[in-house]
Amino acid sequence: MDNRGNFSGRIGFILAAAGSAVGLGNIWRFPYLAGENGGAIFLLVYLCCIFLLCYPVMVGEIAIGRAANRDAFGSYSKLGGKNWGYLGLFGILAGIMILSFYNVVAGWAFGYFLHISFGDLLNHENFGNFFGEYVNDIIDVSSINGLANSNLIFSLVFMALTAIIVSLGIQKGIEASTKIMMPALYLILIGIIIYSLTLPNAIEGVKFYLIPDLGELKIQTVVDGLKQAFFSLSLGMGALITYGSYLSKKENITSSAAVISMADTSVAFFAGLMVFPLVHFLAYKLEINAQEIGTSGPPLIFVVLPQIFHEMGPLLGRFIGGSFFLLVCFAALTSTISLLEVPVAYLVDQKKMNRKYVVWMVALLIFICGLPSMVSMGMIPALNKLTFYRGQDFLTFIADMSDITLTIGGCLMTIFISRRWGIHNMDAELALGNETYMQSGVRRFLHITIRWVAPILLGFLSIVIILEKFFGIANLI
Ligand code: TRP
Repeated sequence: MDNRGNFSGRIGFILAAAGSAVGLGNIWRFPYLAGENGGAIFLLVYLCCIFLLCYPVMVGEIAIGRAANRDAFGSYSKLGGKNWGYLGLFGILAGIMILSFYNVVAGWAFGYFLHISFGDLLNHENFGNFFGEYVNDIIDVSSINGLANSNLIFSLVFMALTAIIVSLGIQKGIEASTKIMMPALYLILIGIIIYSLTLPNAIEGVKFYLIPDLGELKIQTVVDGLKQAFFSLSLGMGALITYGSYLSKKENITSSAAVISMADTSVAFFAGLMVFPLVHFLAYKLEINAQEIGTSGPPLIFVVLPQIFHEMGPLLGRFIGGSFFLLVCFAALTSTISLLEVPVAYLVDQKKMNRKYVVWMVALLIFICGLPSMVSMGMIPALNKLTFYRGQDFLTFIADMSDITLTIGGCLMTIFISRRWGIHNMDAELALGNETYMQSGVRRFLHITIRWVAPILLGFLSIVIILEKFFGIANLI
């Protein structure tokens, strides 16, 4: 397995893996989940999930990938036999499913970036209506200020950008692009936070976000926190097995995983710190109560934020709004490349196919798989209200199914390590690049979490998530 490609070093790997982790999940989903689940309480639950469950799973995945030096399927089958290979395959399919809808949402964000920066999107009166029409009509090529208003094209372009990067390989494609996009993302994020904190009423938003509402802890909060943590850290489907397989034996996995988790968590945290002051600024401007602004749910960044950019005035709004959506595009792109790399690595490693050819073929296929999600926002009524899924749309259905596969995948991975591969083999892998590992507290912590805490809690919570998705949590308790 020579010439599979590799990261040039620690920084390249960390930035690529953090790039995979930081995505729409952090900027689009984390703030509204936090808002719905009581702000600071959610943050606390989320941090516990990261520490107790996600960090060990992340270390485990990277160790498996680096030990086997193969794609997700190849890694499980090499270390555990053909039957375990199916777990890798299950992950690869989950990745395809995630990328199919993820790319649709990324396409919306890309379209918003273009329309705000170069078009007249911010001149609209009613952003709710605009968004409704925008996602509904996927092939409207009538133009707004010369820009075709078609999210079919935007998401096709986004997939093509992803494919170009992945086809360039690990160092020249994935590593080089994340080395530019990740720092840019942090800069834009910090810039917007500083600006938003200077706006009137911003401090109310900070208070809402950071002062815990001491309402009792609900099971929904734990379920939402866990799902979000898994998705946000790109766990449970072999993305980090694949990235780990390109990592040199000289690097320290346990500390890299800690840096990646912190980088991801900090972006999620900062995204909230950017969004809530903005929302409270809007409330002030419109002279209404912040609670009256519907910040819950996906429309947050596509409806509420554009309205805020509109309030900032034409020039500033265009600049801040354009920067914001550029940030979202960077975050999404570093994630889509990691999602595409998983099936690509599988075909290159297992079927010995040519990388460039595989990349374009798989990207096109996944784009096509995404079409049902794209037309499920109203264009095709049957997909907009799935009868077997409590009347929800197909995109939500696919997104929910991926949450389920990730926690199940993570649970099975920990079982794989302790019952099949052997925790001593994981130890041996982690000791490479980390001389003190064998005597460390981290080792003891990983043994307890990977053997007992993670499989039991993840197994239990996966069942709760399945029941919640199909029957609604309110009906369970
Ligand atoms: N973590 C990314 C986000 O938060 C999404 C993502 C990229 C992902 N690669 C993944 C999720 C692999 C699960 C598995 O937006």
